[in-house]
Amino acid sequence: MDSNKRPESMARITTPELAEAFIAEQIAAVKAQVGDKKVLLALSGGVDSSVVAALLIKAIGKQLVCVHVNHGLMRKGESEQVIEVFRNQLDANLIYIDATDRFLDLLKDVAEPEKKRKIIGGEFIKVFDEEASKLEGISFLAQGTIYPDILESDGVKAHHNVGGLPEDMQFELVEPVKLLYKDEVRVVGKALGLPASMVDRQPFPGPGLGVRCLGAITRDRLNALREADAILREEFEKNGLNQTVWQYFIAVPDMKSVGVKDDKRYEGWPAIIRAVNTTDAMSATIEEIPYALLHHITARITAEVEGINRVLYDLTPKPIGTIEWE
Ligand code: XMP
Repeated sequence: MDSNKRPESMARITTPELAEAFIAEQIAAVKAQVGDKKVLLALSGGVDSSVVAALLIKAIGKQLVCVHVNHGLMRKGESEQVIEVFRNQLDANLIYIDATDRFLDLLKDVAEPEKKRKIIGGEFIKVFDEEASKLEGISFLAQGTIYPDILESDGVKAHHNVGGLPEDMQFELVEPVKLLYKDEVRVVGKALGLPASMVDRQPFPGPGLGVRCLGAITRDRLNALREADAILREEFEKNGLNQTVWQYFIAVPDMKSVGVKDDKRYEGWPAIIRAVNTTDAMSATIEEIPYALLHHITARITAEVEGINRVLYDLTPKPIGTIEWE
């Protein structure tokens, strides 16, 4: 039987009970596969790798070594959440690497989007590889592959996800959720006790804020983007829009305009809000955000974020605009 094919008879996991049954089944399978050997996992903090980590911690505890690489392009608080949940709450064997300087130094003065993506993807593999080679006795590599990844690996999916690891790594793979769809991964994650803020996370591109800090990234503009993005997320959550909008974020272009602050000329960047709905990310529509909320978000971002002096709302559907700006 092809182990990469979902059997017709496999019921969709929609309830905590079905999730528990799946978890028990996978714990037994992982234990049988791994024995007393060690398993390595690149833990990005995204839904899939987080669920795999929680499942493997339950199955094999400290035999799992998680490596979280902070490339400096995470949303505000995300690396902190990975540490809090996995190291402090689940008592995982977690190696945290703050590689911010390595990534930002390499990205300095690089404005071309595809070049930025390649640098981020390439450096991620290098950092992870270096860390893996320091560890002894690792026999397995765990991955958060899910069923759409298998279905799409025939060619449609053009994006190179950061976290895609080199093929010459000599490890046997452990992929406990590879036959699940995203909604099922979320149900399993909740049954494993992961926080909703982690399990219900929006899709987030592997190169992270790197493709939203448009053009050549500078630390001050990246910081402004991260702070403005955190305000947008906070306001969407407070107003329930996180339940109805599929993906929302801020992009900050590499240009300034003139403004006035405290009666003085204030040159700053615009923060561009993007909020879209889609089912498959191939096309997307624009969400109607209440004007009052847009005004409130504008007031907060321009008052609280150093370097931002305007807020714009992107009304462009996909096509013609892609969801991300780069
Ligand atoms: P676009 O911008 O192509 O995005 O309309 C469609 C979906 O894919 C996400 N995206 C990425 N995901 N690596 C990823 O893992 C990438 O380089 C990348 N670029 C875009 C985007 O956030 C949206 O959900």
